[in-house]
Amino acid sequence: MFLPPLTRVGGLTEISNLIRSRRTHKSFGPDPVPPDVIDELLELARWAPNHHRTNPWRFRVLGPEAMKQLKEAAGPAEAPKLERAPTLVVASAVLSGDLEQDEEDVCATASAIYAVLLAAHARGLAGYWRTPHVLRTKAGRDAVGLPDGERFLGLIHLGTPRSDPPPPERAPLETYRLFLP
Ligand SMILES: Cc1cc2nc3c(=O)[nH]c(=O)nc-3n(C[C@H](O)[C@H](O)[C@H](O)COP(=O)(O)O)c2cc1C
Repeated sequence: MFLPPLTRVGGLTEISNLIRSRRTHKSFGPDPVPPDVIDELLELARWAPNHHRTNPWRFRVLGPEAMKQLKEAAGPAEAPKLERAPTLVVASAVLSGDLEQDEEDVCATASAIYAVLLAAHARGLAGYWRTPHVLRTKAGRDAVGLPDGERFLGLIHLGTPRSDPPPPERAPLETYRLFLP
């Protein structure tokens, strides 16, 4: 294995295991994630790579009033699915209108979401990156205060795990890694 000559941060095995063992959870215990732990997770988000240091991510932690409005916007068929996790965070990217920058800022925000999911997993919390249709509608966006200039990227579900989901099948390395001459 290639080992860089410079100091490595943390345990390589530890981070490899963390990446491999993170799972999408769809069943959560009832206890909300305490605000100080939410802050710990979201503080890590800002270390995600972002070109020109635009810090494009926004995370809105939903309180009861926002939840009520989002459920109303979702309608009776979809609303119960918003109750699966005790803590919900809307992740979005602030767009500038410049197409290249916007593409990079969406990528940066996706990286930040992944950092939050990994950080949650490292603390024994369950996470779920969900993109419910309601947050692509005006009513849903209004319910959570998403302004026109932000792209919705994910409704992060957080809480305590209630199951141990098996890993979905992954495409083997050989199917997506290409060595060019
Ligand atoms: C951008 C994005 C959007 C997603 N949206 C949904 C969703 O709306 N519903 C859902 O069940 N899973 C959603 N997922 C989770 C994936 O289905 C999940 O990551 C995949 O099944 C692999 O499982 P794992 O996360 O346990 O490795 C989303 C994941 C990403 C990256």
